[in-house]
Amino acid sequence: MVLLAVNPMQPETDAIRQAAEVIRCGRLVAFPTETVYGLGADAMNPEAVTRIFAAKARPASDPLIVHIADSEDLERVARDLPVQARILSESFWPGPLTLVLPRAESLPAAVTAGLDTVAVRVPAHPVALALIRAAGTPIAAPSANLFGHPSPTTAQHVLDDLGDRVDLVLDGGPTFIGLESTVLDLTGEQPTILRPGGVSREALSLVLGPLVVGGAGVSRQGGHTSGLPSPGLLEKHYAPRASLIFFRGERHRTLAAMVRQLDTLLAEQKSVGLLVASEDRSVFAGYPVIIEDLGSQDDLSLIAARLFAAMRALDAQGVDVILSRGFGLAGLGLAIEDRLTRAAGGRVVEVS
Ligand code: TXA
Ligand code: MG
Repeated sequence: MVLLAVNPMQPETDAIRQAAEVIRCGRLVAFPTETVYGLGADAMNPEAVTRIFAAKARPASDPLIVHIADSEDLERVARDLPVQARILSESFWPGPLTLVLPRAESLPAAVTAGLDTVAVRVPAHPVALALIRAAGTPIAAPSANLFGHPSPTTAQHVLDDLGDRVDLVLDGGPTFIGLESTVLDLTGEQPTILRPGGVSREALSLVLGPLVVGGAGVSRQGGHTSGLPSPGLLEKHYAPRASLIFFRGERHRTLAAMVRQLDTLLAEQKSVGLLVASEDRSVFAGYPVIIEDLGSQDDLSLIAARLFAAMRALDAQGVDVILSRGFGLAGLGLAIEDRLTRAAGGRVVEVS
């Protein structure tokens, strides 16, 4: 495995050339995007794509996102583009929006897990764009973590999960957004958010009008539910090793419920970690717990950027249980809520 440090804003030509060569040879390159690190392979090479699934221990039934450098290249991977695809690509690309579209026949079936549709995006990261351009091919890339682990927001997270299973890692420092892209399905009767992410529902609604939210994570609270099956959107995902309990509700009552749970856990000799906002810290002063401070509750972009790294940090310190709360459903709050709900895998406490 080769590890190359690159300047995230102006990646060095030599490093990009070397990484692009690895892609062209059908091997795997982990690279930063604005959301999380991706584990990339030549999307047009079925053997290379198969290596991604093996490296991540990812089920072959879970389709990958194809990354292109320019919306002009959409036709290489998708067909019969609906009119919204044009409007959305002009408004949000490069950026953290993935569009699900009818799949071009030339795209290997392994990329889309045999589906007739393909998920595509243009990432807003100079390293990702330079790599795709230099490789001269669309790059299929899921998040560069082991299947089920929190997504990687630093090169170190990639190394911790994948090590020698990846051929080359481009280290461009921490990613900017820290949560994955929004996945929007344009192949149904109406546009449907399959996974909330870096582009908010509100921003999409400004362009598309009111939106259906499907998928597994957010469908149980707030918003409309389509009940559509979305491949790979498993209930438990993005999960730390410790068991995470997610408290949902009004802030003060939620914090009170967390304190009660904490008392119980400490009486059981459990070691406990907390994922909370700076404003919450004083509530837990004097408790023997490990606090991961996500930043001010008024800065959702900082909370999003720190969330996965904080889960990993608590795991590294060996806690048994993690307690966390949500930060509303507006803007990035919806994606944060979704990831915490999934990480909890059903251990959600509704505080009314
Ligand atoms: O921000 C991101 O999206 C990152 C970076 C690397 O681009 N990628 C990422 O990929 O999160 P992954 O594989 O971890 O998540 C892709 C999601 C999965 O939930 C998958 O089910 C969904 O996109 N997806 C992919 N192809 C699809 C399709 N044809 N139809 C419906 N959902 C699809
Ligand atoms: Mg993933």
